[in-house]
Amino acid sequence: MAIRVNVNGVIRGPDEPHVSALDRGFLYGDSVYEVIRTYGGVPFALGPHLDRLWRSADLLGITLPIGRSQLVRRIRETVEAAGNAETYVRIVATRGSGEIGLDPALAADPIVVILAAPLRRYPAEWERTGVGVLLVPVGKGVGGSVPGGAKSGNYLANLMALGRAKRAGAEEAILVDTSGHVLEGASSNIFAVTGGRLVTPSLECGILEGITRRVVIEIARGVSMPVDDRPVRPEELRDADEAFITSTLREVVPVVRVDDAAIGSGRPGPVTLDLLLRFRERVATGLGWETG
Ligand code: PDD
Repeated sequence: MAIRVNVNGVIRGPDEPHVSALDRGFLYGDSVYEVIRTYGGVPFALGPHLDRLWRSADLLGITLPIGRSQLVRRIRETVEAAGNAETYVRIVATRGSGEIGLDPALAADPIVVILAAPLRRYPAEWERTGVGVLLVPVGKGVGGSVPGGAKSGNYLANLMALGRAKRAGAEEAILVDTSGHVLEGASSNIFAVTGGRLVTPSLECGILEGITRRVVIEIARGVSMPVDDRPVRPEELRDADEAFITSTLREVVPVVRVDDAAIGSGRPGPVTLDLLLRFRERVATGLGWETG
């Protein structure tokens, strides 16, 4: 079990110095990132994750100093160097370093960091027990999704919200914007199941388009379950029959409590568990080092 860090193509241990203290990712969160996980040592949905990385970089005006196939090679080398049975892969691209100052033009050489670490599994019992979430008000447009759906390294609002949720005994914070709409989890997307329909905040709300979210929506539509992606109010979540969160690392996790109120029966619901099962079946079709 090891952690390996690849900075601009050079692989090192995690505690060896590798990124400048002047790096803008460190100073300002001026970076974009992706989190990918392996199944049987092979990444899932690599193509969609890399598409989103390039989209995020474009939105922030960061020109990635690497081509797609070279990045895939580098990810693979880093995963192999780390040598874990299953790997958490974090790819971070920062605007680089330069004279200290906010002006993005002060840095000209973006860097690419790949971190490969042992995959930390979430408790399997969550499938039986579900988890609680806490609604946390945040300013509009914050979250992991500024600007316009980019997965930027600026996660302060999300991590503060998660801290609040954990202190309240919940496993995830659900961010609520200033107009009172549900956005997403601190690092997940949120769904409700109501009267046989899947309801989830739309991308126009300023959320991150989760790769897991997209797959779950495809699965639901594939079994003729109606999917409404639109603005969602907190009461809808509280009054839902079932709810769940989705993310790369957690797949599909039943949500059984919002703040102090039970959702539905207070137990993981049948639609959620069916979608989780179908998601796991679907994973096999999205594994590979080819990104299409
Ligand atoms: N985050 N929304 C936010 C704000 C997130 O940070 C994430 C994931 C998601 C779910 O996206 P996906 O299904 O593509 O993982 C939604 C990653 C996993 C993380 O920061 O660890």
